[in-house]
Amino acid sequence: MSADDITAHRDAIDTALTTTRSVRRRLDFDRPVPAQVLLDCIDVAEQAPTGAGQSSRRWIIVRDQATKAKLAEAYREAGGSWMMETADRLEGTGHRLERSMTSSAYLAANLERAPALVIPTIIGEHDGSGRPGLFDSVIQSGWSFHIALRARGLGTTWTTMHLGKAAEVAEMLRIPAGVTQIALFPVAYTIGTDFSPASGRYPARSITFFDRYANTIEGDADGPLSMAQSPGVTIDIDIDASAAAVWKLVIDPNLPARFSEEFQAGHWGEIGDPGIGSTIIGTNEHPQIGTWETTSHVTEFEVEQRFAWAVSDPENPGARWRFELDSRGGSSTRLRYELHLGPGPSGLTAAVDANPEQASRIIAGRQREHRGNMERVLRGIKDLAESGS
Ligand SMILES: Cc1cc2nc3c(=O)[nH]c(=O)nc-3n(C[C@H](O)[C@H](O)[C@H](O)COP(=O)(O)O)c2cc1C
Repeated sequence: MSADDITAHRDAIDTALTTTRSVRRRLDFDRPVPAQVLLDCIDVAEQAPTGAGQSSRRWIIVRDQATKAKLAEAYREAGGSWMMETADRLEGTGHRLERSMTSSAYLAANLERAPALVIPTIIGEHDGSGRPGLFDSVIQSGWSFHIALRARGLGTTWTTMHLGKAAEVAEMLRIPAGVTQIALFPVAYTIGTDFSPASGRYPARSITFFDRYANTIEGDADGPLSMAQSPGVTIDIDIDASAAAVWKLVIDPNLPARFSEEFQAGHWGEIGDPGIGSTIIGTNEHPQIGTWETTSHVTEFEVEQRFAWAVSDPENPGARWRFELDSRGGSSTRLRYELHLGPGPSGLTAAVDANPEQASRIIAGRQREHRGNMERVLRGIKDLAESGS
């Protein structure tokens, strides 16, 4: 294969992988889907890895209209109706889930109109041990099926709602005991074939850790750990509280001092409402470094979403800190806490400059210390938010 062929191949595969979306409103219910097309896609999907190389997946293609209607009813009873009611409630509110809920509700209301409902199953039952087992040999195959459909101008959505009625569905389709249903894919040709990558996914660098969980690298990730790489720490915690309750806590500049072993006190540098450009005066203490004061500058401030600040010179900060809130439902919030060290000077750069041959060890040690304190702060915030403090 020539270098150009390899590039063309890569681009085609990457495009398929990044634009295979959950298709609901753009399913063409009126265009028939030949069984052979589905069988071809299943042939592709069967190439996915499978435990011990044993082929244990079994697929059901439902085309009979009366059966599709019964499956759609089970889907709605198991939660589809709730989606339809929620979509009605969210209509016109601009709520962040409005669009996806409207789309999900449309599918719930029209499921039986899809030319085929495809149910992947696997012979076996998950033993619940958390160890990889038979069950883990089916998800990747289901996704391959989606990609193969996309390559042929068809689309679907990964749905699991009907599993709340798995026993009824098993009876309906005569799925034997010991065979596990995984999902239900409503398949149709798509109306148009232009689909874009999803927004709202994190870039690899913010969710990929090097050598230890939570350790990030912003710059060139090759070679030994150095300040030039802008190493950092990122951790998340799920909190059973609203974004409003969590936000109130994270923007208190003194709050980390209640839980961190290093950060001793913090206060706003000026009176008035905080926002971008506001300053935070912080006092820190470390057994090896002593006590020092920092002035930080707020660089991001989006209510109930993002709060970030840069330490010392905002143009060349010694460190950058960030809280991000992700609220999926009303009462649950994922709080993300990020630290990036450098690129500007700090106590850490001084220590590294004094012992350049120990740079990697010093930086890794500092990441470990920061992570410990950041975890204490996140746990403290979680406890306070969940107890309504
Ligand atoms: C495990 C799993 C279960 C899902 N179950 C349903 C479902 O029952 N109904 C539905 O409409 N979408 C379902 N989805 C789709 C998601 O809600 C979501 O729309 C999708 O992953 C994001 O859209 P995108 O793929 O276009 O980015 C499910 C997705 C996954 C991964």
